[in-house]
Amino acid sequence: MTSTSSASTTAPITAAASGRWTLGDLPVNRVGFGTMRLPQTGGALVPDAVPRDRQAALAVLRRAVDLGVNHIDTAAFYFSPLRSANELINSALAPYADDLVITTKVGPARDLTGEWAAHARTPEALRGQVEENLRQLGRDHLDVVNLRIVGTDSIAERFGALAELRQAGLIRHLGLSNVTPAHLAEAQAIAPVVCVQNRYGIGMRSSEDDAFVRDCGEQGIAFVPFYAIAAAGGEGGATGAEPAEILTVAQAHGVSPAEVRLAWTLHRGPHVLAIPGTGDLGHLAANVAAGALRLSEDELELLETLHRSAAATG
Ligand SMILES: NC(=O)c1ccc[n+]([C@@H]2O[C@H](COP(=O)([O-])OP(=O)(O)OC[C@H]3O[C@@H](n4cnc5c(N)ncnc54)[C@H](OP(=O)(O)O)[C@@H]3O)[C@@H](O)[C@H]2O)c1
Repeated sequence: MTSTSSASTTAPITAAASGRWTLGDLPVNRVGFGTMRLPQTGGALVPDAVPRDRQAALAVLRRAVDLGVNHIDTAAFYFSPLRSANELINSALAPYADDLVITTKVGPARDLTGEWAAHARTPEALRGQVEENLRQLGRDHLDVVNLRIVGTDSIAERFGALAELRQAGLIRHLGLSNVTPAHLAEAQAIAPVVCVQNRYGIGMRSSEDDAFVRDCGEQGIAFVPFYAIAAAGGEGGATGAEPAEILTVAQAHGVSPAEVRLAWTLHRGPHVLAIPGTGDLGHLAANVAAGALRLSEDELELLETLHRSAAATG
């Protein structure tokens, strides 16, 4: 007996379903992929992280690209004792497709044991981090480099140093991470900014970043949330119980809460890009499919109320 319709014959939803955005002059599908989860299982960015199986990590990267992902977020400080996100990207995807955009970030640093070290603040130290990314990725220029900061200090000297590396051809486009609107204005006076990567999602940073997300859109700058799924779990990953509102919307669409969280970020504006991180092929497919999820006005209203209430961060 033959079957004429089955799930196994249905073509998977690809990242193209999420729509496109142009980072500077580089077009990307709005659902991308974040690599912070790949070097290890469990919590990221800790010295005693448990390295992920190498073939499993490579398979996730290759599958992401097969599913149309062409925006990959990384950093040289994404590593576990035995794996480096940049090395995995290089091994899985080089020679790189012409349409693949790799975004990395500089500023933070970890020493060889994996402990956090002092941020790069001088032009020499920032150049060293840019060159480290170039070596690990096996490229002669970086598509997008975010200056990732902590605190409220002026970023003029650091951003100016990256602007010079851009002029020198080592970097195509610049972005910022973990910044305020004042930082963005300071940077824009020095060189164009194509993206802002801040922590943001349902129930997270509503008062700080709702207006900032809109402002970025009005200026044609991509807003790229991190921890959109992990939410309050942060580096530890998605572990918390989901609020009833998210479960209700997920059930109505027959999708997971993670997909609702991602879809909600994408509904904040056409300039919002997603970079969900996962080491799981099933989760990868679900996250890409979230780009096709359309939430109704009632659902968006329900989630908006949740977003504005502190309860959503639990
Ligand atoms: N600029 C910055 O300061 C900064 C900071 C942090 C992260 N980032 C970037 O942002 C990216 C996204 O952040 P993230 O990876 O931490 O967080 P995330 O995408 O919000 O969530 C990842 C967590 O959710 C789980 N998950 C992913 N998809 C899922 C699904 N469909 N269903 C259920 N669980 C799912 C993952 O576990 P599984 O592996 O089990 O799926 C992991 O625990 C990072 O990879 C990194 O590239 C940037």
